Order: sequence, then structure tokens, then C-alpha cells
Amino acid sequence: MRIAGTGRAIPSKIVTNDDLSRIMDTSDEWIATRTGIRQRHVITTETTTSLSVEAAKKALDAAGMQATDIDVIICATLSQDNTLPTLACEVQAALGAMQASAFDLNAACSGFIYGLGVANAYLKSGMFSNVLLIGTEVLSKILNWEDRSTAVLFGDGSAAAVITNDAETLLAFEQGADGVRGTAIQCENAPANHPFLDKPHSPATDGPIGKVQMNGLEVYKFAVRTVPRATKNVLAAAGLEPDDIKYFLFHQANQRIIDSAIKRLKQPSEKFPINLDRYGNTSAASVAILLDEMVRDGKIEPGDKIVLAGFGGGLTWAACVIEWA
Ligand code: ACO
Repeated sequence: MRIAGTGRAIPSKIVTNDDLSRIMDTSDEWIATRTGIRQRHVITTETTTSLSVEAAKKALDAAGMQATDIDVIICATLSQDNTLPTLACEVQAALGAMQASAFDLNAACSGFIYGLGVANAYLKSGMFSNVLLIGTEVLSKILNWEDRSTAVLFGDGSAAAVITNDAETLLAFEQGADGVRGTAIQCENAPANHPFLDKPHSPATDGPIGKVQMNGLEVYKFAVRTVPRATKNVLAAAGLEPDDIKYFLFHQANQRIIDSAIKRLKQPSEKFPINLDRYGNTSAASVAILLDEMVRDGKIEPGDKIVLAGFGGGLTWAACVIEWA
């Protein structure tokens, strides 16, 4: 597999930490020192679908391809506009990618890298030649805006990659899950609700549903353990040392999690690009947005070896080493 083109789409509305402090009991100082986040973007007129389509068009342009060249569209998301039709099918229709099959993939913040693994398997098997992979999240729809411990952390955004089979650039890949600890980040769907129940769910007495809830400390402990370990695993599988890597593109959840990985991997901080200060945690979009920024800024060049790593709800994680081409 080779990433032939990338693109991103970010909602125009910026919400700063000071904006949040006007609607909830928080402060720029608390958010910035605990997380590194200074602002995030949230949708106003945009939707999960419109962001995905915009990012996909840019990725197709960068790859020099038409929508009709795409064999399969994979959308990594947990915040699609509708349960049905799926986000991937909405994107297919908007792009006119009528040759493509299309489906959504939910592995929370690891979704884009899980999607790279699926794309690689399709291409390696010979089943498909061109994959459009999109990571989009509009978590502002499913945040509890009365819960300061989660509302300040996330942002909306999208990024896409066109992945082709004309070269082998994936040097190693790992993905994993720990469902036993899954309740560390939850967003419950509607419970059973039909006329034959003795007692239907009542949000007033049974609590809110469909909103993100998180045990921040549990996620933090999981992340600082898992990201360096998965990174070391893929480096070993590729026969590489950390020194061989130009950039480590890690899921942008929290500066402190990335700082901890920097220490454990004993690498200079310049090798760990950051954009969480501007976007917050954009879940399945975060690594893809960072990758697109780095590529478009000319910071990643052919021959560079990079690590991508994600972790999040599920709990899930995924990491890979790519030699850029
Ligand atoms: N503003 C001000 N005070 C706050 C805020 C806020 N936004 N949020 C919480 N507090 C308060 C708490 O109420 C608590 O007060 P108390 O001591 O009076 O009870 C105090 O600040 C400390 O709270 P902690 O939760 O202990 O804060 P901590 O230093 O652990 O930082 C954080 C919390 C930033 C969430 C951290 O645990 C973290 O980064 N966890 C990882 C989260 C993450 O990366 N998630 C990504 C995956 S999400 C996904 O996959 C969808």
C-alpha cells in the first residue's frame, strides 16, 4: 500500500478555552496546563458528511485521481450523521464514486489506523486497487456540554487518504483491543424502548444516554502504557530503531500523554508534531489531520520513515511504520 494523496476539512467556527470558560466552570489555565489544548473547531453549518466529502475531494486531487477510480470507501467514525445510510454511503453518493463499495468502521480514536490495516489487507489480497479512507469526527454532537471534564477535550474535523497498490510502503502494523476496560470511555445508545416494556428508560431518572462519558485517569494510564509499547513493537517488527524515524505522528489527545511517550522512547520532542493545541482531540480524524498538515507543509518527504499511532475508546490501539513514497 501507498498513501497517494491526503486532504483535510476543518469547521470554520473556533471555540477557545476562554469561550468555554464563559459557559462552564473552567479556565484557559486549567485546560492548557492539563491537556495542551488552546482551542478547537466545532460545526455550525458543516456536517459529518460535508466535512468528509470536502476532505475526500482534496485527497483525490492530491492523488491525481477521480472518484470513479475508487474501489472502496471506508469511513472511520463514531459520529456519523445518521445510523442509516452510513457515512461512507453518503460520501459515495456525494462524490459520485459509483464503482465503490462503502462502509463505516468504528474503532474510536484508533479508527483511521485500523482503516489503514483494512485497506492494506484489501490491496494485498488483490481484491481492490484503490481505497478512499476517511477519518471524520463531530463529537460536539455527542458531548455532554454540562460535563466540563469531557466537553473541553474534543473538537470536530475530518481528513482523508487515497491509498493505492502501486508500491509497498507499510513496513509494520499492529492493532489491538482491551474490551475488558471498555467502560473507561462510554457513549451509550438508546436502551430497549418498545410498548411492551414494564418500565421504559427515563433520562430524568436513569441518566443521559448518547453522550460521551470518560474516566480520564483510566484512559491516561492506558495511553501512556500502550502507545510506547505498540510503537516499540512495530519498530522491532520493521527492524528499525527509534532513531531511524523522522516523525512520530501520535493521536492528539493530550500533550502530557505525548510527553510521556517522548520520555519512554528517548527521542527529541521535535520528532513528535503537535496540533492538539489548535484542534483538541478529533478522535478518528486526529492522526489523519496531522499527516495531511505535515505532507502539505513539505515536512514528510519520500524515503522518510514515520510512525502513526492511535489509541482510544474500546479500548483500542493501533500503530504502524510507513516509508513515505
Ligand atoms: N476545568 C476545571 N476543572 C476541571 C475540569 C475543567 N475542564 N475538568 C475537571 N476538572 C476538575 C475536576 O473536577 C477535579 O476537581 P476536584 O479535585 O475538585 O474533584 C480536578 O479538576 C482534577 O480532575 P482530574 O480528572 O483528576 O484531572 P487530571 O489532572 O487527571 O486531568 C484529564 C484530566 C485531562 C482528562 C486527564 O485525565 C487525561 O488527559 N486523560 C486522558 C483522556 C484522553 O486522552 N482521552 C482520549 C481518548 S477519547 C476517545 O477515544 C473518544
